[in-house]
Amino acid sequence: MNEKIILRRLDDMHCHFRTDLLLKEVLPFTAQYAGRGIAMPNTRPRAILTGDDVVWYRGEIKRALDEMPDRYSFEPLMTVEIRDNTTPQMIAKAHHAGAVAGKVYPLGVTTNSDEGLRDFDNERISETFRAMQDAGMLLLIHGELDRERTLVMKREEIFLPTLLALADKFPNLKIVLEHVSTRAAVESVRQLGNNVAATITAHHLCLTLNDVVGYGIQPHHGCMPMPKDFDDRDALIAAATSENPKFFLGSDTAPHPREKKECAKGACGVYTAPVLPQVLAEVFESVKRLNRLENFTSRFGAEFYGLPLNEGAIITLVKTEWVVPEQIGSVVPFRAGTKLQWQLS
Ligand code: NCD
Ligand code: ZN
Repeated sequence: MNEKIILRRLDDMHCHFRTDLLLKEVLPFTAQYAGRGIAMPNTRPRAILTGDDVVWYRGEIKRALDEMPDRYSFEPLMTVEIRDNTTPQMIAKAHHAGAVAGKVYPLGVTTNSDEGLRDFDNERISETFRAMQDAGMLLLIHGELDRERTLVMKREEIFLPTLLALADKFPNLKIVLEHVSTRAAVESVRQLGNNVAATITAHHLCLTLNDVVGYGIQPHHGCMPMPKDFDDRDALIAAATSENPKFFLGSDTAPHPREKKECAKGACGVYTAPVLPQVLAEVFESVKRLNRLENFTSRFGAEFYGLPLNEGAIITLVKTEWVVPEQIGSVVPFRAGTKLQWQLS
């Protein structure tokens, strides 16, 4: 008999489901193993900024779910993007429309952040954060800053003072530092109060900068924040497998069609949805912490968001080697063409 892992359905607290054809292509993977997924708002041409946008995007996702041949018990959790012009009134409407969180992209740090937030500490945006705090909405932050004479590798570290200031100013606002990539970020989150948590991706648990540019340029590993040094990756693995409830899964699965990645100015984002629980199982197994996987994937995120745990359906991983396809639909998945040890049954 092959070894098996049985897990409560996952909560993936950071997903890019996109829209239109790509949405239909990518959503079934997450829906297969997750009970819920945070739908990131950086869609184009229509970004998710208002209550009306939330209603529209949820409708798109639900329609895509309805069209799938298999029925999944999957619930999208909706977000809005917080820009310089996001007002407390917009927050109230978005909350009423069902948004559980607001997402901040600092200007220019990642895919579709061309209208990202410029200023974290003016009075207007503070009112908006206060409105989120009062409504019980979470603040999800892409924690990087694009400053002059600052390398991409330092962008997360130079954001940390801003995180500290926000956590101090809004002690009742739940803040998630998304896709942490450095030991420094892990340490900051650990030391801050219980209102601050972090998501960790599967690919940041696997990659270093070497895997992006060290052996030929590998565009399918290119993402923001950039994978960093070995010591940073060690810190992420330690945090994810530590059973500290401040660290939970947010895959940042970020599909881009192959031709948008393999070109002169390739888009940032790693498409992990088709291999997510399988890769996580490998990582946790490699440090002999498989027994801690479920808390990371299916408990701590829900608890931080104040949601009940997913009940009912479960997922099963079976230890059987398989090879990840070179391409799935229009997108090259993480670990394409390589062997994985665990299969979703
Ligand atoms: C994400 C995307 O493609 O939307 N890209 C990425 O590199 N992670 C945006 C993001 O989460 O930064
Ligand atoms: Zn993302």
